[in-house]
Amino acid sequence: MSIKAVNIKYIYNAGTPAAVTALDGVSVEAGRGEWVSIVGHTGSGKSTLAQHLNLLLTPSSGFVSIDGATIAPGSREARAARRKVGLVFQYPESQFFAETVREEIAFAPSNWGVAGVALDACVNEAAASAGLSPSALGSNPFSLSGGERRRAAIASVLSMKPDYLVLDEPTAGLDASGVRGLTATFGELCSKGMAVIHVTHDMEIAMSMSDRIAVLERGVLVASGAPERVAEYLSERPVKGLVMPASARFAHGLREKGIHAPLAGGVSEIIETLEEARSRRKR
Ligand SMILES: Nc1ncnc2c1ncn2[C@@H]1O[C@H](COP(=O)(O)OP(=O)(O)OP(=O)(O)O)[C@@H](O)[C@H]1O
Ligand SMILES: [Mg+2]
Repeated sequence: MSIKAVNIKYIYNAGTPAAVTALDGVSVEAGRGEWVSIVGHTGSGKSTLAQHLNLLLTPSSGFVSIDGATIAPGSREARAARRKVGLVFQYPESQFFAETVREEIAFAPSNWGVAGVALDACVNEAAASAGLSPSALGSNPFSLSGGERRRAAIASVLSMKPDYLVLDEPTAGLDASGVRGLTATFGELCSKGMAVIHVTHDMEIAMSMSDRIAVLERGVLVASGAPERVAEYLSERPVKGLVMPASARFAHGLREKGIHAPLAGGVSEIIETLEEARSRRKR
């Protein structure tokens, strides 16, 4: 069971002098329970790709398939498939429209006919999964703190019970503890079997959380694979706008001195490598 974008090309304003090729032959796949990061400089096509995965945009060529079925644009299957994919936009709280957080979270399921006790259960479950305190449900969304607002927006997507969660820079603008807390929440959702497709500039999170990372550069997929492989690519061939974590840069420096430290591992893995190198030297 997975979501796949296959060989996607997308041109904004196609056929006009303002045409922009935002994606050119990009493929990514995320299985349920996997965390896949999409990284790249501003304008590299990340949000355009996220909107293809959610079937909001129709590719100029290529296709999206969900759970083995290729989705024909505008079809009945496309509408059903869209319910499997939740998209959290960047700064999603700017789209709040309801008087209370509870109504905001209840909007999608109540549109689908969920009502009464089942709707209450759905709202409470979504709020809990997003790490939102129950006491926030009666509040006006705009009275919440920045971190709570973001969680409320995420809960309003989780109330659709998606199998695939596409997050477009979900931690943008949050402080360090907000970023850590939300990242842990996404990790929990992933470990419960949801696919997490995380659009981010934050290479530290991408390196530490992902099963795979896809690197976009001006609409082209320039690298993709396990974090270690992508870290090796990026250390050899830096991509503008992507800053490798300090631990990866340090590990790269060690490699230049002949110590083969893991680029995508954290500080503790690097320390282990150094201790091994020291004990080898003693022998
Ligand atoms: N609605 C639009 N009309 C025309 N061009 C667009 C539109 N939206 C995006 N583009 C262009 O498509 C390209 C990819 O944009 P996209 O928003 O997907 O990039 P991004 O990687 O998400 O950038 P950011 O990191 O700034 O969010 C850019 O050149 C952008 O200017
Ligand atoms: Mg974007």
